Amino acid sequence: MSKEIVIKASGLTKFYGDILAIDHINFEVERGEIFGFLGPNGAGKTTTIRILTGLSKSTDGKASILGFDINSEILKVKRHIGVVPEISNLYDDLSAIDNLLFMAQLYGVPRPQRRKRAEELLKIFGLYERKDSPFRTFSRGMKRALTIAAALIHNPEILFLDEPTVGLDVMAARSLRNLITNLRQQGITIFLTTHYLEEADLLCGRVAILVKGRIIKIGSPTDLKTAVEKESLIEFSFGREISDLIEDLSSRLSGVRMVATEQNKVRIYGGTPADIYDSVFRFAKDKGIKIQSVKSIKPTLEDTFIKITGLSPTVMAIEKGGEHNVAR
Ligand SMILES: Nc1ncnc2c1ncn2[C@@H]1O[C@H](COP(=O)(O)OP(=O)(O)O)[C@@H](O)[C@H]1O
Ligand SMILES: [Mg+2]
Repeated sequence: MSKEIVIKASGLTKFYGDILAIDHINFEVERGEIFGFLGPNGAGKTTTIRILTGLSKSTDGKASILGFDINSEILKVKRHIGVVPEISNLYDDLSAIDNLLFMAQLYGVPRPQRRKRAEELLKIFGLYERKDSPFRTFSRGMKRALTIAAALIHNPEILFLDEPTVGLDVMAARSLRNLITNLRQQGITIFLTTHYLEEADLLCGRVAILVKGRIIKIGSPTDLKTAVEKESLIEFSFGREISDLIEDLSSRLSGVRMVATEQNKVRIYGGTPADIYDSVFRFAKDKGIKIQSVKSIKPTLEDTFIKITGLSPTVMAIEKGGEHNVAR
């Protein structure tokens, strides 16, 4: 069975004056997936969400949601989508329940269903006990959760989340990620943005990497990692210093790119790991040297991101800021 495409963008472009915020982007989101837009600050993530949800007009290109054109049929689009902006759109002085009832009215939920739906959401999001407290008295995590609840009041099929865990502490971020996963399990399609690599890796089935308004890669987190997987790097520690034997060792290794040694350690770059293990174990046995440890050094998702985006590690360090909140 072919997958149903629920969001489709073709050549979507946005200029703010002279600033090209998004530059001819193309992507498709399938029903039921969590699709991530991953990119550093200023990449164009929020701009994309604003255009797809009818808050901003594109300069060029097309997009449709559930087959409805975002320019000519935005009212139909809005009936089927929920939007959670970076900054909550709820009212500080209204209670949790009143915020939801207000949203229900705004989204055209029939009056007799409003309270039932609001209470049901408060229960799902663990906020029922606090239903009469004003929004402003909520913690950041609770505020984010209630903002998501509000976006779901009209039972949308697609939920847009802009940087859902920014500014949350580790526990709140984790609980919110669980919540997002649960929504997907209920069949809601989720489009989210994030600048946290690990978050995209944990949550998303597929990720588009956005840099300076351009999509430079789309794939599953695993695909993205494999696509740029560096050559293998294996480090052996021996029972003694082996610089005198390095030529002997090297001559036994075929297909490797480089062998480096430092005291009792040897690092082998490239080649086939299984063959390398074989050769090195045989070498150690022949020479009567003990192998103390073997380490296979893998590229991290961050290495991958830097390699794909061409961003320098310094830029990434700034990107991650002081509020890096991903915990496993
Ligand atoms: N209302 C606006 N007016 C002018 N420039 C804007 C506006 N909104 C965003 N931009 C610019 O567009 C680019 C993309 O911004 P944005 O979509 O907010 O990125 P992200 O959400 O990925 O951090 C940035 O260069 C930003 O400065
Ligand atoms: Mg943004």
